[in-house]
Amino acid sequence: MKRVIVDERRQVVVAKTEDEAYEFCLNSIIEEVQKAVSARASCSIAISGGNTPLRLYELLTEPSTALLVNWSRLNIFWCDERCVPSTDPESNYGNAMRFFGNPPLDQAKTYRIPADAPELEKAAHEYEKIVKKVCPEGVFDLVLLGVGEDGHTASLFPKTKALSEEKRLYIPNHVGADKGWRMTMTFPAIERARMVYALALGKTKAKILKQILFGESNPEEIPAQRLGTKEHPVTYIIDKKAAYGLGL
Ligand code: 6PG
Repeated sequence: MKRVIVDERRQVVVAKTEDEAYEFCLNSIIEEVQKAVSARASCSIAISGGNTPLRLYELLTEPSTALLVNWSRLNIFWCDERCVPSTDPESNYGNAMRFFGNPPLDQAKTYRIPADAPELEKAAHEYEKIVKKVCPEGVFDLVLLGVGEDGHTASLFPKTKALSEEKRLYIPNHVGADKGWRMTMTFPAIERARMVYALALGKTKAKILKQILFGESNPEEIPAQRLGTKEHPVTYIIDKKAAYGLGL
């Protein structure tokens, strides 16, 4: 395991294997949850969809691991959601609840993004109100993001309207003819979070990680380039395959 400071906004933890990366991410999340619960009596996290984090959610259900978390003090939100019912195989909530629905994880309070609501704008405002009610100032203790091969994160896709949102924490975002509408967390919401992790594994992520970390600055085309601030740097957790060609 190697930790590399890229700049004042970004650092990268490079694990030898995928399993080591998951283990590191798991332990880091548990540590953040314990820190938040002892400091503020509760912990609010926002988690991502996609395939990569599913193994992590599965690891959290293992009894020896599950015991390390005070689930009744945990509030689980989502970074983004597809405009489908929770029963749809595409639902980020539905896929995560295959794991978080099991005891003792089910003691956690979960807040699904109602992205299949008829009025997305209204649903986004209502979700943001809930976030601000549960998390003072809308500050999450931890945000767990993924990275798409096109440089998107959450549902902040290249050249989409949500990239320029500077006030709201959640908004609907049209992400293209094929994927249609999504509900997504915005950069202001990510940038105020106490801790931000981006988990990116496998060789399919190597090319985009190089552009994100070392490429010419163009966040309109590569949204994940904007991740991380001096106050709250982002930690990329990657494996050796994803680190291919990064020279780390
Ligand atoms: C989603 C995610 C998205 C995801 C990336 C990476 O709803 O799809 O929240 O931002 O993190 O697309 O997805 P993979 O982990 O499947 O590569």
